[in-house]
Amino acid sequence: MAAQSLTYTNPALRLSEARQTSGRVRWRSPSNIALVKYWGKHGRQLPRNPSISLTLEQAATFTDIVFSPRNGSATATGICLNFRFEGIDHHPFEDRVQRFLEALLPVFPFLAELDLHISSRNTFPHSSGIASSASSMSALALALCDMERLLFGWAGTEKDFLIKASYIARLGSGSACRSVFPTAALWGRWNELPDSSDLYAIPCEEQIHPDLAYMHDTILLVDQGPKSVSSRAGHHLMEGNPFAPARYDQARERLETLWKAMKTGDMDTFGQITEAEALTLHALMMTSMPPYMLLKPNTLAILEAVKNFRASEKIPVYCTLDAGPNVHVLFPDVCKTPVMAFIESELAPYCQQKRWIADSVGKGPTRLDHA
Ligand code: PMV
Repeated sequence: MAAQSLTYTNPALRLSEARQTSGRVRWRSPSNIALVKYWGKHGRQLPRNPSISLTLEQAATFTDIVFSPRNGSATATGICLNFRFEGIDHHPFEDRVQRFLEALLPVFPFLAELDLHISSRNTFPHSSGIASSASSMSALALALCDMERLLFGWAGTEKDFLIKASYIARLGSGSACRSVFPTAALWGRWNELPDSSDLYAIPCEEQIHPDLAYMHDTILLVDQGPKSVSSRAGHHLMEGNPFAPARYDQARERLETLWKAMKTGDMDTFGQITEAEALTLHALMMTSMPPYMLLKPNTLAILEAVKNFRASEKIPVYCTLDAGPNVHVLFPDVCKTPVMAFIESELAPYCQQKRWIADSVGKGPTRLDHA
């Protein structure tokens, strides 16, 4: 990985300068679902193309950090962490969080002077096949920025705070940077929006049509097992994919079309681009070397059934996919009754244990009471 300096480095943030030296911060942050997908990265978690997502409501992570001065802090180096996931020690997650926090020491040097007790839990079952890195990394990033604010104050605006949290979340998991904003967010430099950046996501709530802000996203759990190829490996394989340059151009073109549709509430175009992006993401996996496929037969059966239902009932209901076999079924609130009846009768049989998560576009992260 190319050595790149971090933005927001601040050697002055030491406990000797802090307003308090112990305390607690708690955040709830949701997952998000990309419409134009981020697939392919370079450098330190920088995207090869801009992406846009809807923020979810129900699929979320709660993160709680309790901190106090570290024993022998004067000579302390590294991070002193105790990490619990859903009430129990979880070593693989602890290692990931430990590495993440160590990489952030230039931004939050005070972390090396503290004993950190971090606990985290998801609102959705672990191993349900729902990517939790967006919700967990955004919750952790928000909690860390909030610690800084508690200890040293914050001179910027609330938006500046969220932009910094988005920057930090991106370093943990690219897609996580889009979770810190309500309704919808865009990540990646895009000429159409001068505020956009590869370093963090920006909010889009104000620009998009209200119909989209009240969409449902029912996540059909086709397979709840772990993925055979991680997203990290998948991004990496894009570097050798012969279709990659054309894909990055296509993502920009599709973003332009989708953006207009999202502003005007043009559901047909919204659905067309959203479904095309889902299939493109998986086509890129199938055209990587070695090729791989995360789709399952029931994924395809659901995509086909939704397409037929849409055509026969004239209802705007569309599918998208993450890097896995589970299907996100998107539809406006006014269509809830017929679509949910269709899901229960026709699509539930394709789901493992007939399970799905009834989610919707959400209002973004929440800072919880610190008591
Ligand atoms: O955030 P990562 O590194 O896990 O990548 C996830 C990429 C997709 O979820 C497949 C697409 C996206 O834009 O969220």
